[in-house]
Amino acid sequence: MSHLLLQNLSKRYGPATALDNIDLAVEKGELLTLLGPSGCGKTTVLRLVAGFVTPSAGSIRIGDVDVTRILPYERGIGMVFQNYALFPHLSVARNIAFSLEERGFARSQIRQRVGELLDLVRLSDAADRFPAQLSGGQQQRVAVARAVAYAPQLLLMDEPLGALDLKLREAMQLEVRRIQRELGITTLYVTHDQTEAMRISDRIAIMNAGRVEQIGSAAEIYGDPASRFVADFLGRINFISARVTSIASDRMSVRSAIGELKLPPRNGFTAGSIVALGIRPDEIEVEPSVPTNDMVIAPATVLDRVFLGNIVEMQVKLADDVIAMVEAKPAAARFSRGDRISLGWHASRFRVFIK
Ligand SMILES: Nc1ncnc2c1ncn2[C@@H]1O[C@H](COP(=O)(O)OP(=O)(O)O)[C@@H](O)[C@H]1O
Ligand SMILES: [Mg+2]
Repeated sequence: MSHLLLQNLSKRYGPATALDNIDLAVEKGELLTLLGPSGCGKTTVLRLVAGFVTPSAGSIRIGDVDVTRILPYERGIGMVFQNYALFPHLSVARNIAFSLEERGFARSQIRQRVGELLDLVRLSDAADRFPAQLSGGQQQRVAVARAVAYAPQLLLMDEPLGALDLKLREAMQLEVRRIQRELGITTLYVTHDQTEAMRISDRIAIMNAGRVEQIGSAAEIYGDPASRFVADFLGRINFISARVTSIASDRMSVRSAIGELKLPPRNGFTAGSIVALGIRPDEIEVEPSVPTNDMVIAPATVLDRVFLGNIVEMQVKLADDVIAMVEAKPAAARFSRGDRISLGWHASRFRVFIK
């Protein structure tokens, strides 16, 4: 049974729909990330789960309890937000102890629990310091310890690392994941950063305009995106416009800037349909030495090439002035602007989307 279950959840503000009939199930101990552009409804989901706002429709269950009409502090939820400031006048230890003191735990119990939490977030040496004496990353670790102090059943994190610079953010992503795993706490995490989502999550829910477009592991979503929006949002992808020239039960032929391709047939298209073919920049071969059966070879002109160490990023121009991005092996560094090259496109790698 899932630990957090959202069913048919909607939230309207006047005429505007912030969340449009969402279903979501988070398993016990899982870290599920809501990923999507600004304004797509991520924070609204967390607020509904936390109980700060009431849904226009639908229900929220934690464990086997329907909490839809329960007050926030009765829901047993810990929270970490980007701007969820620590109490500046309290030491690290007192910040962490706060919710335990509020709940009337015995002093000895509090001392022991705070000690465990300081160990967990690796701040045992900083117990008596004040927030202003800590780095941004250390402050967020205190915020995490404070949020989980009374052992909530659910942890909500809304862009908790958004204020940190890149290097620190990457270190903290691993740190948040380690802490979450050690506690085994079911977590709903929010970010608009796809790399962060891929690094930190068991599963990702891609949101767009108040809806969930796809849920799955990073590898599942990257490999088999359910829509053009998802393909574009998680990872980089080229879209090449094509026209369906014929469709039969076993194959569909399309014509595009890279020539004629034979693809598996898809429902919903007929001869004449305009489609978008999606292919990731690392799925295109530069000067393929051993062309395969399903490969189409097409000429291209190098417009730009950037050496990035492990890959060479190339911008290329195909027929009809179609531009594509290619992530090639370092050997491709031998090509430069203006060079004519050949590219290998595997028909089996193309995803077909509605234009
Ligand atoms: N209190 C509110 N009143 C009116 N509109 C709101 C309110 N809160 C959020 N919205 C709207 O709901 C949509 C989703 O917002 P939000 O959940 O904050 O998005 P995200 O966290 O993904 O950036 C946005 O269009 C936002 O403007
Ligand atoms: Mg938000």
